Amino acid sequence: MSSDKKHLRKTGKGTRAVHSGTSPSENSLNTPIYQSSTFFLDDNAYKMWKEGKPRAPVYSRYNNPSLRSAEKKIAHLENADDALVFSSGMAAISTTLLTFLGSGSRLVTTRNLYGGTVILLDQDFLRFGIDIEFVDMKDLSSVEAALKDKKTDVLYCETVSNPLLEVSDLPELSKLAKKYDALSIVDSTFASPMACQPLDHGFDIVLHSVTKVLNGHSDLLGGVIASRQELIDQVWYKMRNFGGAMDPHQASLLERGLKTLDVRYKKSTETAENLATWLSKHPKIEKVIYPGLDSHNDYELSKKILSSPSTMVCFVVKGGDSEGHKFMQNLKIATQAVSLGGVESLISMPCTTTHVSWKVEERIAVGINPGFVRFSTGIEDSEDLIADFEQALNSL
Ligand SMILES: Cc1ncc(COP(=O)(O)O)c(C=O)c1O
Repeated sequence: MSSDKKHLRKTGKGTRAVHSGTSPSENSLNTPIYQSSTFFLDDNAYKMWKEGKPRAPVYSRYNNPSLRSAEKKIAHLENADDALVFSSGMAAISTTLLTFLGSGSRLVTTRNLYGGTVILLDQDFLRFGIDIEFVDMKDLSSVEAALKDKKTDVLYCETVSNPLLEVSDLPELSKLAKKYDALSIVDSTFASPMACQPLDHGFDIVLHSVTKVLNGHSDLLGGVIASRQELIDQVWYKMRNFGGAMDPHQASLLERGLKTLDVRYKKSTETAENLATWLSKHPKIEKVIYPGLDSHNDYELSKKILSSPSTMVCFVVKGGDSEGHKFMQNLKIATQAVSLGGVESLISMPCTTTHVSWKVEERIAVGINPGFVRFSTGIEDSEDLIADFEQALNSL
């Protein structure tokens, strides 16, 4: 069997999740954990190192077979030439953006992004002299105006935004980026390759916090990008320089987590759909935000972009933040915690977590109304989660 397992590219995503990338050794079924910071320098390694080739097999920050297994699996799942893993989602985001941006260059993006990314842009990228224009990604004419206005190097957005679950029109955005010669990069953490493969919609680079659904067990931090080979190679040099490499043990856990991605994602999405429908009829719920419901602003777009709606369900509990908080405390199965995409359901409110530093008016202005709750659906049984929600709402 060839090591890049090209025949698997034509198989279903469930098959790729299990078999792609995995590179057994000594008759093992699984890729061993190459717990080694450094490697024997044979002639080939010396040559690659001397020539400055990406992935020279000399040192774990340059290359490690445990990392390559996870990377090849993700590359197949994203229909990409190759992938590159990092020590965290933020390492993937900062390293990738700083490969293509520097003093005097320009980024067009939106504020409707993961809060940590907005902080990185506001606190650090501005300090580095990068010109950033924040636009409403839902308004394609304002995106075009921003790209036309000044030469832009990168267009950046999220497939499904955190926490408002807005869906980006990836085919139109990638067309605009190409028209104005900007590189298009998308954070697809909330969608995962199970729901969307952004490279097929014309994006240049897709990235993920693998801490979330790709690993799926809330037991590691990691990030990944997937793209064409030339772009992966460019980012590899910056990953080597900035140093946000993944650890081999972390990569082995990730590769194991990825094997069940398809079944986990299907089960969580099915439960999320049931829960969203159930919540939308509950008298104590003011509003449900779920791309699979026809009440969602992006319902039609989500059918075009996403092959299944989302494992995330957001909703507004009547009575505001204090009632929302009481509801969370009444729950017996879902755990109050930030993060998402694990086998266990997690629940949190942006007002006390990701958006705690925002004023109430600022939160309302972007759609995070008092009582807004974010729920990450795990793989528990649907009827148990609904029963738990019912008792928690009835006790308000
Ligand atoms: C959409 C999104 N992107 C990136 C990140 C950052 O990832 P990490 O926490 O792995 O650094 C997060 C974390 O919550 C996220 O939700």
